[in-house]
Amino acid sequence: MNEELWAKVDDYINEIAIAPDAALEAASAAAARAQLPPISVTPAHGKLLHLLARAQGAKRILEIGTLAGYSTIWLARAVLPAGHVISLESNEMHAQIARENMLRAGLSGRVEIRVGAALDTLPRLAAEKQLPFDFTFIDADRTYLPEYFDWAVKLSHPGSVIIVDNVVRKGAVIDSASEDVNVKGVRRFNERLKTDARVSATMVQTVSAKGYDGFAMALVR
Ligand code: SAH
Ligand code: DHB
Ligand code: MG
Repeated sequence: MNEELWAKVDDYINEIAIAPDAALEAASAAAARAQLPPISVTPAHGKLLHLLARAQGAKRILEIGTLAGYSTIWLARAVLPAGHVISLESNEMHAQIARENMLRAGLSGRVEIRVGAALDTLPRLAAEKQLPFDFTFIDADRTYLPEYFDWAVKLSHPGSVIIVDNVVRKGAVIDSASEDVNVKGVRRFNERLKTDARVSATMVQTVSAKGYDGFAMALVR
């Protein structure tokens, strides 16, 4: 079992589950052209987010960490025709590329990309007293993951779903001595999840073209 095989099987899964898609392919190409890190969700993972959001009937979606908007496209398509996605991104260049990708995908009217560090933009969002979000995808830096999750719960309603990406990190998550800020952030998040009475949660390990990782899913009580 190796990464090469996981990537091959991912190609195979894509052939079965993911129809050719000009907007998604253009978004990936734009990200590659701009030399953004290749850390967008995989097609199969993007479609999983899309299906979960649709199954839940989500109309309002929050994303933390936009990059080029690849996952944002999957999420925005789940809220069509009338829903809304707010995606938070700290990097102005990423946000600009993502906006162009939303335009190309015909989703600009459904997606708002807000630039700023999530620790600043999340409280601002809460202060606006908008309707709660039905679905949140957390996929930014992990240093402040527990804080992002707290805001996501505050911005939710009973029945909202929160997905947290990259909570396994090649298994590094079980290393209590890790000095990696991302691993430390994830561990802090996981420790709190244990006793978080606000949600019912689980974690799933994954292998894919992006290697070995995993995600958490939380249902807000
Ligand atoms: N969800 C995207 C990938 C996101 S990559 C997809 O699957 O297509 C992580 C993104 O989070 C990067 O664009 C990075 O700039 C952004 N980010 C990192 N730290 C952040 C912070 N503190 N606040 C908001 N965004 C942040
Ligand atoms: C990294 C970040 C991600 O969001 C991801 O899905 C994979 C890897 C990273 O920073 O290494
Ligand atoms: Mg990720």
